[in-house]
Amino acid sequence: MSQPPRGLTFPDPQEVFEANMTALDAERAAWADGIVAGTGIPPRMAEYTLASFPAKGLDYYSAVLRYVTDQTAAFPRLSGLIILGPAGTGKTGLATSAFRRLIEEFGRYYGTPSYERSGWWISQEDLLDCLRADSGALETDSLTRAQTTGLLYIDDLVSSRGITAWAFEQIFKVIDARYKACLPIIATANLSAFDDLDDIDRRLSGRLREICYIVEIPADGQDLRRR
Ligand SMILES: Nc1ncnc2c1ncn2[C@@H]1O[C@H](COP(=O)(O)OP(=O)(O)OP(=O)(O)O)[C@@H](O)[C@H]1O
Ligand SMILES: [Mg+2]
Repeated sequence: MSQPPRGLTFPDPQEVFEANMTALDAERAAWADGIVAGTGIPPRMAEYTLASFPAKGLDYYSAVLRYVTDQTAAFPRLSGLIILGPAGTGKTGLATSAFRRLIEEFGRYYGTPSYERSGWWISQEDLLDCLRADSGALETDSLTRAQTTGLLYIDDLVSSRGITAWAFEQIFKVIDARYKACLPIIATANLSAFDDLDDIDRRLSGRLREICYIVEIPADGQDLRRR
């Protein structure tokens, strides 16, 4: 093997490789942290991915996987996703995993992204709190963000428990604006079937039906918190 000229040393390839890998890991971790902090994914769900889902044999897991595969192939023209079903069946975990995967795709597609503009993860209740706190302003920040962010995630969308007329109109305003602008929504709902949304409001359900993949979890779906 040839020797370096006197006075020069070759860096140890193994050390270079390890340093590169460490830098790459740090970059990946920072990127992942950026997604979580920037979009507002809650800490409990920050580590959830499709790979970490605990019941991969279920049909609704396959349906969400198919949704994600189709969307990454069709990027940036995204359809939405709505997962409906009983408590504890993994709606939030699956929908959040799909959301996160697609936000990663924003990064890949647009280069270094603004995570705030790429997506927003929020529960319906918190969204309404934000809108209530903002109300009075003509165009509120939260309303604008919800209407215009690249991918909006709403956890626990309109349930049969019922909400006030004001609250319903706010949610409708968000969904209608996104429908008109062809911007995707990922949502979960504690309803047994999509038809239940028709009973709540047909204007809302009609728009969601048109722009979202619908995944219904059967009523006898296992509560994953009790496994
Ligand atoms: N992607 C994931 N990775 C790891 N664990 C998960 C994942 N998704 C769901 N789980 C597990 O399944 C449990 C139930 O999931 P999740 O909170 O998503 O249910 P849910 O249907 O949204 O319930 P609820 O209707 O009460 O909100 C979680 O506590 C978690 O342990
Ligand atoms: Mg949930």
